[in-house]
Amino acid sequence: MENNNLTGVTVWFTGLSCAGKTILSFAVAEELRSLGYTVEILDSTVIRQDIGKNLGFSKADRDENIRRIGFLAHLLTRNRVIVLVSAISPYNEVRSDVKKRIGDFIEVYVNAPLKVCEARDKKGLYQLARAKKIQEFTGIDLPYEAPLNPDVECRTDLETVAESKEKVILKMVNLGYLKPRDFSHSSAYFFDI
Ligand code: ADX
Repeated sequence: MENNNLTGVTVWFTGLSCAGKTILSFAVAEELRSLGYTVEILDSTVIRQDIGKNLGFSKADRDENIRRIGFLAHLLTRNRVIVLVSAISPYNEVRSDVKKRIGDFIEVYVNAPLKVCEARDKKGLYQLARAKKIQEFTGIDLPYEAPLNPDVECRTDLETVAESKEKVILKMVNLGYLKPRDFSHSSAYFFDI
C-alpha cells in the first residue's frame, strides 16, 4: 500500500513503568496503519534487547539509551515515517535535546499515579525495588521528571485506552500530521474538515 503519511513525526510517550505507554502506542499504531499510514514503533524495552544491550538504568545509561532512540527516531522521521517512541525517559534535559534535534515532535505524558502503576505491575519490579532487591528504579529510588509542557497528557487511571488514543490522534490532526478526512467517519473526533 502507498504511504499515506503527509510528513514524518515522532510521537514520544514518556511516563513511569506500567503507566500504559506501550499499550497506548500500539493502539495509535493500529488505527493509523488501518488507514494506510506508515508507522514504526520504537519501544525502549525492545531496543534495550538489541542496540541497548550494554545499558543499565543509571542516569548516564538512560540518557545514552534515549540518545540512541532519538537518533533512530530522527532518521525515520526525516524519511516521512510516523515514529511512536515508548520509553520511561525520566529526564527532562535529554528529552528536550531529542525534541530539538527531531523538530517534528509531539510529547505525550502518559500519566498515572505511582500507586496505580505499582498495582498494575505484573512483573513485580516495583515490589523488588521497594524491597531494595533492585536499584535505580524510576519512581522509587530514582526520580521521574514529569514533562513541563507536554503536547498531550493522558491520565491512564481515569481514561480508557481508546480515549487516550483519540487525544493523541486529535493532536496529530490539529498539528497537521494526519488528514482530518481520514477520521471523519468516527464520532470520536470533532474538527472542521
Ligand atoms: S528508560 O529510562 O531508559 O527510558 P525504559 O523505558 O527502557 O527506561 O525501561 C523499560 C523497562 O525496564 C521498564 O518498564 C521496567 O519494566 C524495566 N526495568 C528494569 N529495571 C528498571 C529500573 N531500574 N528502572 C526502571 N525500569 C526498569
